[in-house]
Amino acid sequence: MNRDTARVIKGDICYSKDKNNLAIVPDGYLVCEDGRSAGVFDRLPQSYQEIPLEDYSGKLVVPGLTDLHIHAPQYAFRGFKMDLELLEWLNTSAFPEEARYADPEYARKAYSLFVDDLRKSPTTRACLFATLHLPATEILMDLLEESGLVTFVGKVSMDRNCPDYLREEDGDAAARAVLDWLEETAGAYRHVRPILTPRFIPACSDRLMERLGEIQREHRLPVQSHLSENPEEIAWVRQLAPWSQFYGDAYDHFGLFGGEVPTIMAHCVHCPSQEVERMREKGVYIAHCPQSNSNLASGAAPVRLFLDQDMRVGLGSDIAGGTVLSIFRAMAEAIQVSKLRGRLTGDGLKPLTMEEVFYMGTLGGGSFFGKVGSFEAGYEFDALVLDESRIPHPQKLTVRERLERYLYLSGEDWILHKYVQGRKLF
Ligand code: GUN
Ligand code: FE
Repeated sequence: MNRDTARVIKGDICYSKDKNNLAIVPDGYLVCEDGRSAGVFDRLPQSYQEIPLEDYSGKLVVPGLTDLHIHAPQYAFRGFKMDLELLEWLNTSAFPEEARYADPEYARKAYSLFVDDLRKSPTTRACLFATLHLPATEILMDLLEESGLVTFVGKVSMDRNCPDYLREEDGDAAARAVLDWLEETAGAYRHVRPILTPRFIPACSDRLMERLGEIQREHRLPVQSHLSENPEEIAWVRQLAPWSQFYGDAYDHFGLFGGEVPTIMAHCVHCPSQEVERMREKGVYIAHCPQSNSNLASGAAPVRLFLDQDMRVGLGSDIAGGTVLSIFRAMAEAIQVSKLRGRLTGDGLKPLTMEEVFYMGTLGGGSFFGKVGSFEAGYEFDALVLDESRIPHPQKLTVRERLERYLYLSGEDWILHKYVQGRKLF
């Protein structure tokens, strides 16, 4: 054991054992050795007595959170033009803003603001979309590396149905740009990894998807994209890929939909049953983004259905479809959206529980990164010490009560201490 990086954290410790079970150890000890958890204990075993102890008695200690879907360049315009649905919002809001990242100076300024806030937030792991620009994407990767967070970053690929000012020339040019990006960044980072990022089927020609499939097989990269978010979008995919059985089949056709390929699909609001079945078979991760579902009037993803089939589900902020970085808030909103869905559709799907959403924001999404999102022995040591000082309460609350209200009440930067892979960021 490396005693320099070993530490013991004392506090009110909460983590998911699985989607239905929350482990709560009041006044417990969490041990970190070599960047991994050595377990949680009621009393500190003799063998760990020599390790430096950080005493956060009375404070909540939870695993770091994973944001499975976030658009870094959209952070600057969150909260603008929120009265539009997806396709109009992309054209009038997202695309013009993303075009600014052709200017590396603007990119550095805007991405610095974003990464500063992400570093202070409860997120320890994130899967990010950048833009199609190489210099700006590398600036984002540099800033994330300095932040100490562990991330996947995608240079976005898009070569059709977008404005001239934000479109790659054709599938071959777009594929060449991905290869250049991989070559330029190879071996440059310890905590930032590349992920293939076709924006969504409407913005990616068949030739581009074919080439990304080849690049995936050669470089063994994971994939992230959007799926079945909005009814107009889905109808458009039907026109653009008439040969596909359903939207997700248009990714699968090119070998970019799970199986051997670790894949995240954001939203999955309106998936037909065949699509759900294919995602289940192929272990595709679903990034549920409840705030974006509401803001862009997309609907409400049937998350209960996914969880009941033991599918892989995590949470995403979908900045700027969502306006809030905090995945604690995404947990609360996932519950709220599931309640509205149940009442309004009468589909009989039960609302999500706190255990389930906490699991999604920690272990559910974290597992995309390996053994991440839990304090069980062997998991990478990502931890948060939470600040409840701004929400004092007149009664003595249980640890579970405190955690539940923290999901609903916390601000984005109410984190006292943050650890990633055993490293203390602050
Ligand atoms: N589909 C394609 N691009 C986007 C995007 O930037 N945000 C969201 N929410 N959906 C998309
Ligand atoms: Fe998105």
